[in-house]
Parts: sequence; C-alpha cells; structure tokens
Amino acid sequence: METMEAIFSRRSIRKYLPDPVSRDRIENILKAGMSAPSAGDEQPWHFIIINRHDLLEKISEMHPYAKMLKNAPAALLICADPDVPKFKDYWVQDCSAACENMLLAAHDQGLGAVWIGIYPAEKLVTGIREMFNIPGQMVPFSAIAIGYPAEEKSGRSRYDASRVHDNSW
Ligand SMILES: Cc1cc2nc3c(=O)[nH]c(=O)nc-3n(C[C@H](O)[C@H](O)[C@H](O)COP(=O)(O)O)c2cc1C
Repeated sequence: METMEAIFSRRSIRKYLPDPVSRDRIENILKAGMSAPSAGDEQPWHFIIINRHDLLEKISEMHPYAKMLKNAPAALLICADPDVPKFKDYWVQDCSAACENMLLAAHDQGLGAVWIGIYPAEKLVTGIREMFNIPGQMVPFSAIAIGYPAEEKSGRSRYDASRVHDNSW
C-alpha cells in the first residue's frame, strides 16, 4: 500500500474476526513502532504483546473505552521509560509517533486496529502497571487492539483549510 493511501484510508477498527494474528505480522507492527522518530533518538519505549484471552478480557473490564479487547485476538501495550538521559519530557511525543506508525503498519497488512488511551489516566496507569508487572518507573502509555477487521469503514477527508495559517496565525 502506498504511504498516502494508508494514511488516508486508516480508520479505528473495533470489531474483529476470531482469526489469530501471526507473530510475523505482530513483529512487523513492532518494527514500524520502533522506526518512529524520537527526541535525541532515545527511543524511550517498550512493548508487551498480549494474546491471552483472559488478559485481554481483564483490560476490557477495567478500561471504560476498551470493550473491543474482549473480542480482539491480540493487543500491544506501549510502555514508556521517562527516565532517559537527555530529553526527559518528550516521551509522550515519542510514544505517540510509535503508536501512529503501528496503526499504519497494521492497516498496511490488512489488519484492523485502534489506539486505546491509558496515560494520563492515573487509575488506568496504576491498574495496567500492576496487571502486567510493569516496573514502577515505566509508564503504560497506550494499547493497540489488533485483529482482522469484521467491520468496514471508509477513509474520510478531514482537511480543514480554516485550520491552516500562512506565515502567521
Ligand atoms: C490518544 C488517543 C486515545 C484514544 N483512546 C481510545 C480509547 O480508549 N478507545 C477507543 O475506542 N478509541 C480510542 N481512540 C481512537 C479515537 O476514538 C479515534 O482515532 C477517533 O475517533 C477518530 O477515528 P478514526 O481513528 O477512525 O479516524 C484514541 C485515539 C487517540 C489518538
């Protein structure tokens, strides 16, 4: 898929077929995540692959906007290490760049995916950290639910010329 086509046709997919997602495809998504730009190239991310139904269901029960995980074959948890040597305050941007790359990589491989926000909701951060034995200094930042799509959504243009300012606001 061409890059621009992937960007314009990607949508959040929350319904999935029961088919499993191969390790190869998951690894491609992780490679795309780790190819993202990051401040000072510090790459402050870790990833947890979740494909156990009981764990996916547990998240869906504690997260108010993650019901789709109950029927997802897999999810990836993006965790941040804010304690990098130089650019400490940039991990949100870095992990966000990784997430978007991962959504596009999933879409490119014929998979459906949706970004599930965790940070900065304190209760979710604490709950997910406990559930997955994430060390205290790491921040569970977001999750991405992944599966073969069981719903079709078309791309839509959101270009809004009123949000574009030439040379000055
Ligand atoms: C930071 C962030 C957090 C999000 N959290 C959730 C979430 O918890 N649950 C969910 O179903 N969708 C979540 N989304 C997906 C958005 O709802 C979705 O991207 C938006 O409605 C636009 O739809 P589209 O992705 O199909 O273009 C999140 C997206 C972002 C960027």
